[in-house]
Amino acid sequence: MLPFYGRKLSRKNKNFCPRTLKANEFFFDESSSNLSKEITNSKSIFNLEIGFGKGENLIYQSQIKKDELFFAIDPYLSGGLSLLKGIEFNKISNIFFSDLPFAKFLNLAKNFSFKRVYILFPDPWPKKKHKKRRLINEKFVENLNKITTSKSEIIIATDDADYSNQISKTFSNIKTFELFSKRNDYLSFQDNDIYPTKYYTKARNQNRKINFFIFTKL
Ligand SMILES: C[S@@+](CC[C@H](N)C(=O)[O-])C[C@H]1O[C@@H](n2cnc3c(N)ncnc32)[C@H](O)[C@@H]1O
Repeated sequence: MLPFYGRKLSRKNKNFCPRTLKANEFFFDESSSNLSKEITNSKSIFNLEIGFGKGENLIYQSQIKKDELFFAIDPYLSGGLSLLKGIEFNKISNIFFSDLPFAKFLNLAKNFSFKRVYILFPDPWPKKKHKKRRLINEKFVENLNKITTSKSEIIIATDDADYSNQISKTFSNIKTFELFSKRNDYLSFQDNDIYPTKYYTKARNQNRKINFFIFTKL
């Protein structure tokens, strides 16, 4: 399973102590007890965002779906810090977040079934020699299969044309998901109630085509 290759802290936050983040009641890691039976057995709908960045979409989703729970993972600690500020400012209590990469989260998520999984602008790793680092590959989709149920939605956006082709091919090889929607216009986020994240805004400002997919589990 893939390790995490990206950056954990921005230069601006280089003196930030991760303990501040990790002490928060909504933070979890492999040793946490707050992913307790109460949550696992709760009747709530669970959603997951992988690679939440600064957490803008999560904050938005958690506010418009107040009865649902959101799990969020991203090893980028500076992003976690931004998310935490948003959680505290908006007094949010339905987001659980972690700096675990997906591979490690999977061990904790075995008892969960997510209704929606958001993956917005996964790192494209455009150089040929780095393509193996991409998050979305067949193994990843097989793992998504384990933590989703019939009618679950996988919502993905990318502005990298080659990654977009890889995503289409990968999902069509794994027969448990079907393509429900594919768009490449800028209204796809608005029409599907997705917040225009930092990477959406960057791609749009540079007139880059944004490929947007929704796959549903059969
Ligand atoms: C290009 S950024 C996109 C951030 C945000 N979704 C947006 O649209 O602005 C990709 C994010 O994925 C995170 N990431 C990379 N590999 C990951 C993994 N294995 N598990 C979880 N997050 C990961 C990175 O740390 C980074 O914050």
